Amino acid sequence: MSEEITQQEVDNFLKIFGGHILFQTLRAAVEFDLFTKLSVHKQLTLVQITELLNIQKQPARILLLGLVSSGILKKNPDNTYANSRAAEIALTSHSPRNVISYVKLQHHVMYKGMFHLFESIKEYKNVGLQEFEGEEPTLYQRLGHTPEVKQIFQDAMHELSVYANKDLANHIDLADSKFLVDIGGGDGTNIIELANKFQNLRAAVFDLPSVCPITQGKINQSNLTDRLSAIPGNCFEDEFPGDADCYLFSHFCTIWSEQKNKMLFRKAYDALPKNGKVIIFNMMQDNDETGPLSTALGSPYFLTIATGEGMLYTWNEYESWLREAGFSEIKTAKLPQDHGVIIGVKG
Ligand SMILES: C[S@@+](CC[C@H](N)C(=O)[O-])C[C@H]1O[C@@H](n2cnc3c(N)ncnc32)[C@H](O)[C@@H]1O
Repeated sequence: MSEEITQQEVDNFLKIFGGHILFQTLRAAVEFDLFTKLSVHKQLTLVQITELLNIQKQPARILLLGLVSSGILKKNPDNTYANSRAAEIALTSHSPRNVISYVKLQHHVMYKGMFHLFESIKEYKNVGLQEFEGEEPTLYQRLGHTPEVKQIFQDAMHELSVYANKDLANHIDLADSKFLVDIGGGDGTNIIELANKFQNLRAAVFDLPSVCPITQGKINQSNLTDRLSAIPGNCFEDEFPGDADCYLFSHFCTIWSEQKNKMLFRKAYDALPKNGKVIIFNMMQDNDETGPLSTALGSPYFLTIATGEGMLYTWNEYESWLREAGFSEIKTAKLPQDHGVIIGVKG
C-alpha cells in the first residue's frame, strides 16, 4: 500500500477538519439570502453581489470562495456566480423543499451545544445543554425560556417533517383506526397530513404545555378542527390520552434511552385495546451499525444537547423492544431520507 496520501484523501479530511467553517460560511450566505438572490438573477458578478448584500468586496470574496470550493455555488468561466442544483432546491426561500429553518436551527442550537461533545461522551450526559437558558434537564423544556429559538426549532422540525411525514401517510394504512394520538407530536404536521388522507380518523397531539398553543394554531388553520386536537401533558408523568386505538411515536424514540423507550412501549401497550397499534417512525440506523451517515450526524445531538440519553437506534433494537412490551405482527418498511416505519399490534 502506498504511503502517499492522495489529494482526495486530503480534501475529505479537510471537509471534516474545517466543517465548522464551511457551515458558518453556509449560514452567513443564508442570512444574506444570497441563494434566493442568485436564483432570481440566475447569475451575478462579484460586484453585483457586494451591492445586493451591502458588503465590502474582500469579505464577499471570502464568502464566495468558501461557497464555490465546497460546491454550494458554481463559478462560471465568465466569472459570474450561480447556484448549484442542491442550493437551488435546498437554500432558496421560494423552493418548497428548502431547509433554511434547519440551517438556523443548526446555528442557534446544534452548533453551540456540539462544542461539548467530548465532555458529553465522557460523562454520558448532555453537557451542551448549559448553552441554553433554564435549569430543566432537556432542551425541549428549556426552549420554553426563549420563544424565538423555540419557534426556530418548531419551524425546522416542520421543514424536516413535512416531506418525511407525507411518506409516512403513504406507507401506513389507518383505514381501521378511529383515534390516533401522536405522542410528542410537535406542531401537528403529522396529524394534519394523516387526517387529510384518512377521512374517518380523529387524531390528537400529546405534547408539552409550552408546545400545544403552536399545535393548536396549526390545527386552527387546517379546516380539520372537528377531528384534531392538542392535549398538553408529559408522556412520562401523565397518563396517555385514553380511547386511542393507535399511538404514533414520530421522531420521538430517538430522544430517549433504551429504558425509557421500553417504558413508553409498555405504557402504550397497556393503554391500547385489543388490535390497537403502535407506530414508530424516524430515521433508522443499519443493523450492522455502519451508517447511514445521517444517523451518525443526528445521534450526537441527542447525547450532547437534547436529553443526554437518546440516539438513532437500529431497526432490530426497536423491534425487540416492541416484542418485549407484548406487541406482535411486527411490520417494517424502509422509507426515503433514511427513514423507516415499524408497526406493532396488540394481539
Ligand atoms: C423532535 S420533535 C418531533 C415532533 C413530531 N413528532 C415530528 O415528527 O415532527 C420532539 C417533540 O417531543 C416533544 N416532547 C419532548 N418531551 C416530551 C414529553 N416528556 N412529553 C411529551 N412530549 C414531549 C417536544 O416538545 C417536541 O415537540
